[in-house]
Amino acid sequence: MLKLKGSVKISGDKSISHRALIFASLATGRVKISNLLESDDVMRTLNILKKLGIKIVKKEKDWLVYGNGTGGYIQPTQVLDCGNSGTTSRLMIGAVSSNPIRCTFIGDNSLSKRSMSRLTVFLEKIGAEVSLTKKDFLPLHIKGDTNLIPMEHIMLKASAQVKSALILSALNLHGTTKIIETRNTRDHTERLMSYLNIKFKKKALTKNSTLIELNGPFEIKPRNITVASDPSSAAFFIVGALIIPNSNITLKNIALNKTRIAFIDILKKMGGIIKVKKTSSVSGESVGDIKISHSILKGIKIKASLSPYLIDEYPILSIAATQAKGVTIMEGLSELRHKESDRIKSITTNLSKLGFSINNKKDNISIKGSKNIKINNQVRIKTYGDHRIAMAFSILSLLYENKLVLDDEACISVSYPNFKRHLNELSILY
Ligand code: S3P
Repeated sequence: MLKLKGSVKISGDKSISHRALIFASLATGRVKISNLLESDDVMRTLNILKKLGIKIVKKEKDWLVYGNGTGGYIQPTQVLDCGNSGTTSRLMIGAVSSNPIRCTFIGDNSLSKRSMSRLTVFLEKIGAEVSLTKKDFLPLHIKGDTNLIPMEHIMLKASAQVKSALILSALNLHGTTKIIETRNTRDHTERLMSYLNIKFKKKALTKNSTLIELNGPFEIKPRNITVASDPSSAAFFIVGALIIPNSNITLKNIALNKTRIAFIDILKKMGGIIKVKKTSSVSGESVGDIKISHSILKGIKIKASLSPYLIDEYPILSIAATQAKGVTIMEGLSELRHKESDRIKSITTNLSKLGFSINNKKDNISIKGSKNIKINNQVRIKTYGDHRIAMAFSILSLLYENKLVLDDEACISVSYPNFKRHLNELSILY
């Protein structure tokens, strides 16, 4: 028998790591970044910044970024390859747009199927020259300009990446940029700006809609950044401990940003025994410890209004749902179709193959939990090259003596190269 027990140090947060590097590159001097996530996605951002003339070196465990100021990127001589990373592409397209340089962005097969026009429509409106493949995709060419016209943007689709890209663009523009989010999204960019003393206004327009106002250009003074540990990576072990009998684990120094830990409230509602204790604050983000014990879960309904705050956790929440008593209904998942894979398809195809009763109507998925499913022979799980699908099914596999075999394990390094090692550290045979 296997259980999860003990503690591991979860790697740095992916969203914060991208932002730490980019903001450091825009500062006027040296920024030390500690606990940076050294995953494929984050290294894409780091290498693109180097191609834009930013000196970045590793010193022992930390990274030193020698910022060149806002507007300090130089003309790259090579294409900028974002690999699998949506965050790299959106944030860096925004960041270069207000620099007088021409850039070509490319990505892997999966990223080349993800929409870039959701960002570039805003950049073209303010005067950036953009050409996209088939009007929406990478490869993309952009001619940036310091003299873009700052404007008011109304974002109808919830996207932290698009919001952050527009903020990064505004940092080097002369005048006032206003960004209205009609559905609030994660706020790491705003938190990091406050930490770096970048002045901006943020005002709630309604309960779920916000105005952000920035008056550029900005001079960003260097300040060292520590990256908190990633709650979305922790989520895999949290669900693992909840569903594997006799498990009991503690995860420390996890980012407790409210826009990221909605999945914990959901799991608690499902009956999960989870204790969260805030311990301190690092670089503008609350951090704390999370204790999880094996629990009897029940199915619940997860409202569409929560989707921007659960966007990366639906794959692992689906795994929790398979072990809950009754049906879990997850509503409003349309954005899941636009992630590293079509996650509605990736989740439903694999769970159906294992024999779970799944229903997908439009943007909703319902999953009937069952502890009676027996798996005698190995079953091949199709990850679709999606790191979160791979990790979610690795956790489910623990319940079936590792009989679920991933067709692609390598994709995990996109966000969590230490996942397997950490899982082994927590796994105890008894
Ligand atoms: C991210 C925002 C989310 C999330 C992604 C990282 C970010 O995407 O899915 O993994 O770092 O801003 P959205 O742009 O859909 O909010």
